[in-house]
Amino acid sequence: MKIQAIGKYVPENVLTNQDLEKIMDTSNDWIVSRTGIKKRHITTDDTTSSLAVKAAQNILNNSQIKATEIDFIIVATMTPDSHSPSVAAIVQSEIGANSVMAFDVSAACSGFVYALSIAEKMLQAESVEYGLVIGAETMSQTIDWSDRSTAVLFGDGAGGVIVKSSIESSLLAEDIHADGKKGNALVSGKIVNDAKTGNDKWRRSPLTMDGRDIYNFVVKEVPNSIRTVTKKANLELKDIDYFLLHQANERLIKQVSKKLALDSTKFPSNIAEYGNTSAASIPLLLAELVENQTIQLESGQKLLLSGFGGGLTWGSLVITI
Ligand code: ACO
Repeated sequence: MKIQAIGKYVPENVLTNQDLEKIMDTSNDWIVSRTGIKKRHITTDDTTSSLAVKAAQNILNNSQIKATEIDFIIVATMTPDSHSPSVAAIVQSEIGANSVMAFDVSAACSGFVYALSIAEKMLQAESVEYGLVIGAETMSQTIDWSDRSTAVLFGDGAGGVIVKSSIESSLLAEDIHADGKKGNALVSGKIVNDAKTGNDKWRRSPLTMDGRDIYNFVVKEVPNSIRTVTKKANLELKDIDYFLLHQANERLIKQVSKKLALDSTKFPSNIAEYGNTSAASIPLLLAELVENQTIQLESGQKLLLSGFGGGLTWGSLVITI
């Protein structure tokens, strides 16, 4: 597998911390000091699939590849428009791809890491040359806007890559996990029967999260996973050019860099602008770093991508770019 092109799309509409101060009991100071978030982009009329389609078009524009050359499409999302059709099937139709395999991956904020890992295995098949892998979310639709403990954290967006089969894979190593026993620490879209409460309706629950539990879990597991995957790639931490962590919380990312005794400049972040965009956060960050030339395709730079979140799931990949 080789990454051939990168792109993104974020909704124009911006919701700042100051906007949130007007609609809930929170403050810019609390949000910035606990999370590093200053604003987030929130869709007004986009859905997860329309964000994913716009990101796909941007990725295709950044490549020499036509939609009809794509052999499979994977979309990582925890906020699909519907369970059927999948977001990936909608993308396949909207970008004019052939009737190729298209499916969604549900692994919350680890979704993009899971999807890239799957893509690499699919590219080992002989008849497959190009894959489109996207992370796309409208977290704004799963949030309870009256719950300040979660409402301030999330944003919407989409990003992704075209990957190409190649004899020498740029995926050097992976370390991917799930621990369903801890699943209740982050729940979203659970089917609830309100009949018992007199409201004779099935509905899906908004996102609830035990932030403290997940924080502690991440500070324990993510540095272990980063060490493990670096070792599997026969590298040392100092050989990695950039660590692209899921953008859940700036404080958390700093804590991970500290535990690894690495300079925080090796952990680029765009959470101030976008908040937590779940499966979209790593590809969004990657796309921005390519746009500002911090990361250059074909440069041989070594990147470590690490996602973590609902499931609970976590996983790290080492890639050369
Ligand atoms: N504004 C003001 N005060 C608030 C807000 C708010 N928006 N939200 C909570 N508070 C208050 C709480 O009520 C609490 O008050 P109390 O002490 O009087 O009870 C106080 O702030 C502290 O709350 P904590 O929850 O302990 O705050 P903490 O420092 O742990 O930060 C946070 C919370 C930001 C959620 C942090 O725990 C975190 O980032 N956790 C990790 C999240 C994560 O990685 N999730 C996984 C990825 S997401 C996914 O998979 C979709």
